[in-house]
Amino acid sequence: MLYRTHNLGELRLTDVGKEVVLSGWIDTLREHKGVTFVDLRDREGKTQVVISPEDSGEELAKLSKKLRPEFVLRVTGIVRQRQSSNPNLPTGEIEIAAKKADILNECDVLPFQISAFDPALGENIRLTYRYLDIRRPRMLHNLKMRHKMLTAIRSYMDREGFLDVDTPILTKSTPEGARDFLVPSRTNPGKFFALPQSPQLFKQILMIGGVEKYYQIAKCFRDEDLRADRQPEFTQLDIEMSFVDQEQVMDTIEGLAKQVFHEVTGETADYSFQRMQYREAMERYGSDKPDLRFGVQLKDITDIVKDSGFQAFSSVAANGGVIKGIVAPGAYDKFSRKILGEYEELAKTYYGAKGLAWIKMGPGGPESPIAKFLNETAMTNIVKETGARQGDVILIVADKPKVVYGALGAIRLRVGNDLGLIDQNAFKFLWVVDFPMFSYDEEEKRWKAEHHPFTSIKDEDMPAFLAGETEHIRTNTYDMVLNGFEIGGGSIRIFNPEIQRKVFDRLGLTEEEMKVKFGFFLEAFRYGAPPHGGLAFGIDRWLMVMLKESSIRDVIPFPKTNKGQCLMTEAPGSVDAKQLEELDLRLVER
Ligand code: AMO
Ligand code: AMP
Repeated sequence: MLYRTHNLGELRLTDVGKEVVLSGWIDTLREHKGVTFVDLRDREGKTQVVISPEDSGEELAKLSKKLRPEFVLRVTGIVRQRQSSNPNLPTGEIEIAAKKADILNECDVLPFQISAFDPALGENIRLTYRYLDIRRPRMLHNLKMRHKMLTAIRSYMDREGFLDVDTPILTKSTPEGARDFLVPSRTNPGKFFALPQSPQLFKQILMIGGVEKYYQIAKCFRDEDLRADRQPEFTQLDIEMSFVDQEQVMDTIEGLAKQVFHEVTGETADYSFQRMQYREAMERYGSDKPDLRFGVQLKDITDIVKDSGFQAFSSVAANGGVIKGIVAPGAYDKFSRKILGEYEELAKTYYGAKGLAWIKMGPGGPESPIAKFLNETAMTNIVKETGARQGDVILIVADKPKVVYGALGAIRLRVGNDLGLIDQNAFKFLWVVDFPMFSYDEEEKRWKAEHHPFTSIKDEDMPAFLAGETEHIRTNTYDMVLNGFEIGGGSIRIFNPEIQRKVFDRLGLTEEEMKVKFGFFLEAFRYGAPPHGGLAFGIDRWLMVMLKESSIRDVIPFPKTNKGQCLMTEAPGSVDAKQLEELDLRLVER
């Protein structure tokens, strides 16, 4: 059977008079004086079909009474000019006078409307009936864009001489620092595979194998707390190159970023790829992924307020902490006590701040609950140093640097959103470079690798590292940031096995642990490892930012909920006692 001669987005006035066959879903139905108007929808668009007793005959007119939304329909008819055209539809100037129509399939009562989609609809029902959700033009558009993105990536990487090499899913634990998903091995009782958090070890092994330029669109698995920009199963564009320095890697990546951005958005952005040191990003924006679509920077006022008479500030300064503030421009009338209270809660709950001090720049001078604690010169100097003017509000946090950056970085974003300071049409790419090698984990009371332990140390900082220094050791790292999201990250790697061992040693790994975890890897490095480096993009997150979606789930065909479940398949699910037995596993009641 011939189902279609055209898709539902392509017929125009120039096609008037043609006999066509069209198939699709019934998007909407209207009846007017015995004539039925059907908007038929497929992946490419919508076309109006008219069923009337004159054009279509009595029998067809009778059948049209049975039609319902989302029935699957095949129509044969003649293209004709529409009397009142619809300028909102590309096919809006024509319609099909139906001569014949077949119901190819019916549709049950829908759990939610597809044509008149309610944006307030809960996400869970969309995820349960994902196939219906995908029928929506917006979701289909996102899937098309995902395809375009992957195609652009493949063509660029191929042109640049990269080999697409795939790496195993059943593997050993990889060192990206999240919790692993484990798979028990039936053939090796008591042993487990880990799903890869990234192909990091394999891509470095491929460099030792002489592949020189590798890429892969790779599934990665991380059992971590989920957020709007994180999924337990996500997709990376993973890249590694040999015999290159940092500049050459960054250059290749910038070329790729441009091409992908252009193909997906159809626009050009500012491709200057500004660079910022990690330290500067933290000090000025309170974030290692600053959103540069708006100003507002953190100003250090430690020296100004350390002797101001306010105990909360002076004790922080005396204990090596910092005091910083940001200015919310024109917020005097907008920031009620309630909003300021919310900001303070945000700072306290999520970042462990002890408080949030504010100064409202009123017509009669500064108004602030801490005014009574501050001497007059301190207040004057705060205003001067932060550059606040009448009508602004200054927000201040005093604490350990990590707390201050976290809290003010988050409040900066809230302020940007709440005051409408962010240029929603802008795309700002940024490289954040020179991350520290180690960061101290307060909970576990030990040093951890900030990126991963294969990251090379900057030549300038190597003597200090070898002399035993752990803090402030910088690395050859580069994260790509787009509008405040980390869309990719990478580094030039260590290729000297001795240095690699020293890094593991500094991370507290014993010889035995090194052998168990990375034995094969360390061994490979003894057989002539080339200098190499690379990067991985988070494809889903990058696409989310380009499409201005607020949830990563809207750009992933079948995502998991925040509880890590697939509502459509109901995974994860229970397994049979027999399956457990085969795996030598027993469930423990808790
Ligand atoms: P990293 O851990 O920074 O680096 O990951 C690279 C990029 O992957 C994206 N990403 C995620 N996206 C969605 N959900 C998640 N849970 C998630 N976690 C990470 C981010 C991030 O920038 N092997 C190294 C790369 C390298 O050094 O070459 C790595 O995986 O956009
Ligand atoms: P208190 O004297 O503790 O009631 O604090 C008075 C004001 O100072 C309140 O608005 C607090 O939010 C603020 N404050 C207290 N500690 C800090 C701090 N470490 N950093 C910033 N503001 C603080």
